[in-house]
Amino acid sequence: MKNGGGIRIAPSVLSADLARLKDQVAQVLEAGADWLHVDVMDGRFVPNITFGENMIETLRRLTDKPIDVHLMVEEPENYIESFARAGASVFTFHPEATIHVQRQLDAVKKEGMMAGLALNPATPLAHAEEVVRDLDLLLIMTVNPGFGGQSYLAGSNDKIQRAHALRTTHNAAFFLEVDGGISRQTIAAAHQAGADTFVAGNAVFASPDPGREVQELRRRCMVTV
Ligand code: DX5
Ligand code: ZN
Repeated sequence: MKNGGGIRIAPSVLSADLARLKDQVAQVLEAGADWLHVDVMDGRFVPNITFGENMIETLRRLTDKPIDVHLMVEEPENYIESFARAGASVFTFHPEATIHVQRQLDAVKKEGMMAGLALNPATPLAHAEEVVRDLDLLLIMTVNPGFGGQSYLAGSNDKIQRAHALRTTHNAAFFLEVDGGISRQTIAAAHQAGADTFVAGNAVFASPDPGREVQELRRRCMVTV
């Protein structure tokens, strides 16, 4: 799948109530959520431990929509095959977590998934520039990864603008995704800066009406177009 324009809202199941996962997933999908975001954390690359391939398999049984997997793990190459088999659509990893970034991007695509690179707030955009032709998705972290419910970092919009300019300069078509602290208050400026794909955990699932929140986030982008 190529970036054909438009915007995508990707609720992060990290903030879902796992006891009601099926219902909450149905709610956000009925409200028009485009992708489901799955945060995989290994307790090494980030302090927290979360999900593995069983979560991807579970979500795959609930929907045909793209499953957007964000690996905050060391040596993500160990999971390319098994996550593809489990039904992942996008496989995004961090450049600090593996030595041969370009090789892994290739390996992800060979398994039929979209290949994404995620940059922490302090990680220079140059990591993406060196592999710009290999990217299906560039994820700009707008918090330091590891936990849901953190505040959007000042300075993020400038980095999004520079990532957008990188895409234009190289005539590339990767998805430009943002992750962390996306809410009614922050989404419009991120969109104006050039982001087109928005992960939202807490904003959606801590809301009394997750479906309505998905629609509201999309609306906040539309009014700024
Ligand atoms: C943070 C994760 C995010 C997280 C976002 O480490 O990568 O995907 O779920 O959560 P919110 O939207 O609550 O900041
Ligand atoms: Zn994430």
